Amino acid sequence: MSESSRAPEACEVALLVADLPPETYQSRGLGTRLADLIADLARDAGFASLTVTSLWTNWRMLLIVEHLGGPVLPQTSYVRNMALLGLLPNSGLDVADEIELRIVL
Ligand SMILES: CC(C)(COP(=O)(O)OP(=O)(O)OC[C@H]1O[C@@H](n2cnc3c(N)ncnc32)[C@H](O)[C@@H]1OP(=O)(O)O)[C@@H](O)C(=O)NCCC(=O)NCCS
Repeated sequence: MSESSRAPEACEVALLVADLPPETYQSRGLGTRLADLIADLARDAGFASLTVTSLWTNWRMLLIVEHLGGPVLPQTSYVRNMALLGLLPNSGLDVADEIELRIVL
């Protein structure tokens, strides 16, 4: 049995790019680059898919999921536009607002 055939089918991914001054690195493409590297590593390790748990309002993360070939969600463009207009709250969200997304590798 090869190493890859013993791997579970899916692996869960969570990303964090620093955003506390003076280390403010979000929105510079690092999350997308990191996600690409993780997808390559997971594929090489024999995983068939990645799962991501995200708030449905986390439009940067939803865009990264889309970028990796995961589901394209109708709320992404809505939430993105709301964020750009400054109309999206940064707090007060319930864990029930989390969604699990699967990306086939
Ligand atoms: C979610 C997170 C990892 C994204 O990383 P990031 O480096 O900020 O994201 P990127 O710069 O790669 O941008 C991702 C997408 O958002 C878009 N984007 C980012 N900032 C933007 C802005 N100010 N305006 C418009 N679009 C923007 C990018 O263009 C990209 O979309 P695209 O592929 O369509 O171009 C990061 O914001 C983070 O650590 N957040 C806190 C932790 C978290 O929520 N983790 C997710 C749970 S798994």
